[in-house]
Amino acid sequence: MDSAAAPEIVLAIVPADERHLDALMAVMHAAFDPRYGEAWSAAQLAATLTLPGCWARLALLGSQAVGFSLCRAAGPEVELLLIAVTPAVHRQGIAGRLLLRCQEDAMGRGASELFLEVREDNEPAKYLYNRAGFVQVGRRADYYTANDGNRRAAITMRYILEQLVG
Ligand SMILES: CC(C)(COP(=O)(O)OP(=O)(O)OC[C@H]1O[C@@H](n2cnc3c(N)ncnc32)[C@H](O)[C@@H]1OP(=O)(O)O)[C@@H](O)C(=O)NCCC(=O)NCCS
Repeated sequence: MDSAAAPEIVLAIVPADERHLDALMAVMHAAFDPRYGEAWSAAQLAATLTLPGCWARLALLGSQAVGFSLCRAAGPEVELLLIAVTPAVHRQGIAGRLLLRCQEDAMGRGASELFLEVREDNEPAKYLYNRAGFVQVGRRADYYTANDGNRRAAITMRYILEQLVG
C-alpha cells in the first residue's frame, strides 16, 4: 500500500485577464444567485478587463478556478466591482484572501481608499467586508434591480488603506 500522503492542494491568487474569461465566467455563474441579476455577462466582463485601471485576480485551488475579484482604480480611490467564490468552497477563507489581495493591490497602486457597493440584504458579503475592516459610509436606495423587477438598496462601504500598514 502506498503510504505517501496526498499532495496538499494549495490556494493561489493570480492575476487574471481576458484569457481567463471562461474561468471567470464559470465562477460568476456558480456564485451569483440568478434571482438578483447581479452576475455580469461575458461581454461586460471582457470589456471591463480591457479598461485602463481595471484588474482582476483569480483564486485557484490546484488548477481549478474557485473565485475571483475585479477592481477599478480612479485617482486615489479604488472600487471593488466584484468578488465571488464558488459555493462548493464557501467559508474556507477564499474571499477573505482575495479581498486582502485587493487591499494590497490598491495600496501598491498608491490609492488611499477602497470603496464598494453591496446589496443591503447580502449578509454573507456584508459579514466578509465588516470582518475585513470596511465601514458603511452611505446607502443608495433602489440601486439594484432584480430579475423579478424588485429593487433593493445598496450599502456603500469604505476601507482606508493606511490601516493596512503595521
Ligand atoms: C460573499 C462571498 C464572496 C464570500 O465568499 P467565501 O469564500 O465563502 O468567504 P470567506 O470564507 O472568505 O469568509 C470570510 C468571512 O466572511 C463572513 N462570511 C462569509 N460567508 C458568510 C455567510 N454565508 N454567513 C455569514 N458570514 C459569512 C464570515 O465572517 C467569514 O469568516 P468566518 O468563516 O471565519 O466566520 C460568497 O458568499 C459569494 O461568492 N457570494 C456570491 C457573490 C456575491 O454576493 N459577492 C459579493 C458582491 S460582488
